[in-house]
Amino acid sequence: MPGGESSWGIVGWLLLIAAGLLHFLEDPSSEPEQLSMNKNIIALREGYRKLNRSCFILGASGETGKELLKEVIKSQLFHKITLIGRRKITFEDEAYKDLVQEVVDFEKLDDFSAAFQGHDVGFCCLGTTKAKAGEAGFIRVDHDYVLKSAQLAKAGGCRHFNLESSKGADKSSSYLYLRVKGQVEAEVQELDFERYSVFRPAVLLCDRQESRPTEWIARKMLVPISYLFPSALSVPVTTLVRAMVNNMVMQNDKRVELLDNKAIHELGKLGESKNEHA
Ligand SMILES: NC(=O)c1ccc[n+]([C@@H]2O[C@H](COP(=O)([O-])OP(=O)(O)OC[C@H]3O[C@@H](n4cnc5c(N)ncnc54)[C@H](OP(=O)(O)O)[C@@H]3O)[C@@H](O)[C@H]2O)c1
Ligand SMILES: *[C@@H]1O[C@H](CO)[C@@H](O)[C@H](O)[C@H]1NC(C)=O
Repeated sequence: MPGGESSWGIVGWLLLIAAGLLHFLEDPSSEPEQLSMNKNIIALREGYRKLNRSCFILGASGETGKELLKEVIKSQLFHKITLIGRRKITFEDEAYKDLVQEVVDFEKLDDFSAAFQGHDVGFCCLGTTKAKAGEAGFIRVDHDYVLKSAQLAKAGGCRHFNLESSKGADKSSSYLYLRVKGQVEAEVQELDFERYSVFRPAVLLCDRQESRPTEWIARKMLVPISYLFPSALSVPVTTLVRAMVNNMVMQNDKRVELLDNKAIHELGKLGESKNEHA
C-alpha cells in the first residue's frame, strides 16, 4: 500500500506526543496525599535529627556534593559534618562555619585513615571523566579512590554508606564508564556495611560552572524530553540530593538498596519547597 508506512509513522509520533502530554497532565499523587507524605518526611527528618549522627561527604566541591552539603546543613540532620577532599573549600555563609574539613592525598589515603574515623554516615559523590583525567585517571578516581575511601570509612565505624553511581552501571558492560561504575558498586557492597545505598541517577541537570560542551549540548537536547518524560533520561541535582537525604531518614531493614533514576525522582519530590524553581 503506497504511503502506508509513512502514515503509520505519523500515527506513531502522534501517539508518542499524546502519551507525553498525558504523562505531563497527570499528577500521580493527589494534592492531599502529597501533603501528608511531606508531613511524614518532616517527621522522619525530625526523628533522625534526634539520633545525633555525624557524616562525611566526599566530593563536596562537585555539583552533587555541594548541593548535598547545602541540603544537610539546611536540614540540620547531623551534629557533625566532615568534608573529605583534596583541597580546602572556602565558604562565605555563616551556616558553614561548623564544618570540619579534612584535606587528604588520595594517592596515599591510608595515611589519612583518621579523617574517616567516627562518622555514622558517609556520602560519596566523587568522580571524574575520561575526557578530564584520561582512562587511567578515570579508573583511579571513580574506582580506586572510591573503594579505598569506603574501606577506610568501614574501618572507621561508618554504618551507612551512600554511593553516587550512574544509570546503566554494570560490571559486565563493554563501556568503560558503566563497567567501572558497576565494578565499584559491587566491591563496595562486599565490604558489608550495615546499610549501603546506591544511587543511579541519569544525566544531572544543574548549572555547571565549568564548561563541558558535550554535556551542555546533551542537556539542551534533553529539555523537551525531560519536560514530557521527567524521569526518563535526567534528574535535577536538587532532586537527587533530596532523595539521598529522604532515603537516609527512612528506616528500613534492607542492607543494600539500589535506587534507580525513577526511584530518585519519586523520593526526591518529597519535602520539595514550593519556591525552589523560582
Ligand atoms: N554529571 C552527570 O550527569 C552524572 C550522571 C550520573 C552519574 N554521575 C556520577 O555522579 C558523581 C558526581 O558527579 P558530579 O557531576 O556531581 O561530579 P563533579 O561536579 O565533577 O565533582 C566531582 C568531585 O570529585 C572530586 N574529584 C575529581 N577528581 C578528583 C581527584 N583526582 N582527586 C580528588 N578528588 C577528585 C572533585 O574535587 P575537585 O573539586 O577538587 O576537583 C569534586 O568534588 C560521579 O561519580 C559521576 O560519574 C554524574
Ligand atoms: C551528640 O554527640 C556528640 C558526640 O558524640 C556529643 O558531644 C553531643 O553532646 C551529643 N549531643 C546531643 C544533643 O546528644
